[in-house]
Amino acid sequence: MAVWGVVVAAGSGTRFGAPKQYETLAGTRMVDHALAAARASCDGVVLVVPAQDVSSAQQLGNPADIVVAGGSVRSESVRNGLAAVPDDADIVVVHDAARPLAPPALFGAVIAAVRDGADAAVPGLPVADTVKEVDGTRVVATLDRRRLVLVQTPQAFRAGALRAAHEHGWDATDDAALVERNGGKVVVVPGSEAAAKVTTPEDLARLGAHAS
Ligand code: CTP
Ligand code: MG
Repeated sequence: MAVWGVVVAAGSGTRFGAPKQYETLAGTRMVDHALAAARASCDGVVLVVPAQDVSSAQQLGNPADIVVAGGSVRSESVRNGLAAVPDDADIVVVHDAARPLAPPALFGAVIAAVRDGADAAVPGLPVADTVKEVDGTRVVATLDRRRLVLVQTPQAFRAGALRAAHEHGWDATDDAALVERNGGKVVVVPGSEAAAKVTTPEDLARLGAHAS
C-alpha cells in the first residue's frame, strides 16, 4: 500500500511570535525534523509552506518531496497538500511541523491502525488534570477525564476517507475531526510525550532540553 505524508508548515506562529517552523532544535529546523520523520515512514511527502517560501523550499528540499503553498487556516493548508498527493496513495499521514520530535514508531502505529481497517488513527495521551467546561468564569460541567485523550499528530487516514472529508471545505483543528464529522471510524493509538507541540518559545525550550 502506498503511503504518502503531508507535513503542514504554513502557519504564521502568532502565539510563538515568529514562524516557528524555521526555529532550530538540536541544530535542525523544526520543519526539517518533521520532514525527516515523515520521509522515514512514507513513500513520498508533500510539504506545505507559506506561499512566499515555496520556491526556496523547492530548492532546499529532497527531490522526493512536493512543495505547495498553504492556506489561511490549517485545514486549508492540508487540503492544498492533499491535492498534490498522487491519486494512487492508499494511506495519507498528516503531520504538524510544530511537532518536530514525533518518533518513527508513532508514524508506524497510526499507519498500522489504518492498514487494519480504521478510516483514521490518531495518537492520544491520557489526561492527568481534571477538565471542566466553562462559560466565561462560570463552571458548567466537570468532564470524566477517563473518557478524554489529548490528540497529537501524525494522524493516518485511508486516503479516500480523508479526501471525502476535506471535500466539504470544513475547518477544524485536526483532520480526524473532519473524518468523524463525515461518519468515518477514527481510532486512538497510544500517543507520545516526544510528539509534544511547540506553540510558545517555552515549549521549544522544554523540547530542546529533552532533545540534547
Ligand atoms: N499550519 C499551516 N497552515 C496554517 C496554519 C497552521 O500549515 N494556515 C500548520 C503550522 O505550521 C503547524 C500546524 O499547522 O505546523 C499546527 O498549527 P499551529 O501550532 O497553530 O501553528 P501556527 O498556526 O503557526 O501558530 P499560531 O496558531 O500561534 O499562529
Ligand atoms: Mg494556528
